[in-house]
Amino acid sequence: MKKDRIKEILDSESPRPSVLAKGWVRTRRDAKGFSFVEINDGSCPRNLQVLVDEGVVPAELLGQLDTGAAIEVQGELVASPGGGQKWELKATNVRLLGPADPAAYPLQKKRHSDEFLRDIAHLRPRTNKYGAMFRIRSESSFAVHRFLRERGFYYVHTPIITGSDCEGAGALFRVTTLPPTGPEEIKEGENFFSEDFFGREAGLTVSGQLEAELLALALGRVYTFGPTFRAENSNTPRHAAEFWMIEPEMAFADLEDNMDLAEDLIKAMTSHVIEHCPADVELFARFVDKDLRPALDNLIQSEFARLPYREAIEILKKSGREFEYPVAFGADLQTEHERCLCEDVFKKPVIVHDYPKAIKPFYMRLNDDGQTVAAMDVLVPRVGELVGGSQREERLEVLESRMDETGLKKEAYWWYLDIRRFGTAPHAGFGLGFERFLMMVTGVTNIRDVIPFPRTPRHLEF
Ligand code: 4AD
Ligand code: MG
Repeated sequence: MKKDRIKEILDSESPRPSVLAKGWVRTRRDAKGFSFVEINDGSCPRNLQVLVDEGVVPAELLGQLDTGAAIEVQGELVASPGGGQKWELKATNVRLLGPADPAAYPLQKKRHSDEFLRDIAHLRPRTNKYGAMFRIRSESSFAVHRFLRERGFYYVHTPIITGSDCEGAGALFRVTTLPPTGPEEIKEGENFFSEDFFGREAGLTVSGQLEAELLALALGRVYTFGPTFRAENSNTPRHAAEFWMIEPEMAFADLEDNMDLAEDLIKAMTSHVIEHCPADVELFARFVDKDLRPALDNLIQSEFARLPYREAIEILKKSGREFEYPVAFGADLQTEHERCLCEDVFKKPVIVHDYPKAIKPFYMRLNDDGQTVAAMDVLVPRVGELVGGSQREERLEVLESRMDETGLKKEAYWWYLDIRRFGTAPHAGFGLGFERFLMMVTGVTNIRDVIPFPRTPRHLEF
């Protein structure tokens, strides 16, 4: 391999007589007799300093080496006499691959607001912050696969287009090939969707869980890691209409095994990012959240608090805090409550378990009290809910009666019920919101800034 990415060039052990570097100009400084051009190629946060002596390139070309231009530099890698960098590239030849008109290129050498950068999401990966973000995103995905593979999990692919709403929250985006006005003609006794591509209503999946359960009851331990879609019209900094979710599912496992796995996974992902992206994490610790490093160290070192929902409600009531949403047994925890538990009360991640059945989906295992289910949410400081999961209801009759209670059509889930008829077994799993993890590990407070091209209500650009 040529070892010509800027990361490799900057990590060189010794001078190199001939190097070919390619990248985008970050800045150019002209001095008497020479120019410095800083280029970045996305391989690392650092720039390569290129020294262009007068006469090496025609003045007209030099003038076009503007911020944003793509260039190729042939030269000699020499020790840099100036401070700040070990090496610099003494150019012998420079080629302009793609110019960037300085009057029009929106990324100039100054700090831009997150809002401004969202509007130019096609260019923001070229900034230090977003370059760092998307490298961390990549490394975090790798950490998920590595950790789960080491634990004996198989990576399975569950459908994106589905006929069932796993969470029962009615947040499905419809998938259709019908004309926008509906089918031409609906025959007597047929429903609207009989003319549609699948002959029935279809949507984008909100979770791969139901299918992952089927695979777990065959392969033992599986996980999905893919995009999920929710048409919730919640315009919050923590909800996106398209987000990525990691969903492990284990056979022969209970709620405690599930909590252990979630805690270990979160810690392993965090450690992996700190170990493999130190410079990128440092950037967020310096410019985004001064307390990031101690917060991440605390997360890795501490044992997550674990407590039943009932106790969480008591603690919140006694906290003396004024909440926007009232705290009462039976009410779902809101972000303000979740953050209070993590940030004020326990000062570390908290796993709340055994929620009232009325605020959780049909598939969660009913506890012996008949009122609560074997659910768990992992809450983390600053973000709130990072993970939602449960032990699953493996008993056919109990599951059927829960479906009746929640008004689900059992016929549509015949396969899900079948798995309880043939070799049913205790099993458990959860979903970890990948963007929420990235918010936690970088300190970034808006979900729109941790995914390259966010999908939120009324935003579909790019
Ligand atoms: O708690 P949720 O809704 O759980 C499920 O979907 C289960 N079927 C998962 C399972 O047990 N296999 O979602 C899981 C996680 C949440 O804790 C949150 O981190 C994230 O997914 N999440 C979202 N992230 C971004 N935008 C949204 N609109 C999200 N909705 C959920
Ligand atoms: Mg949830």
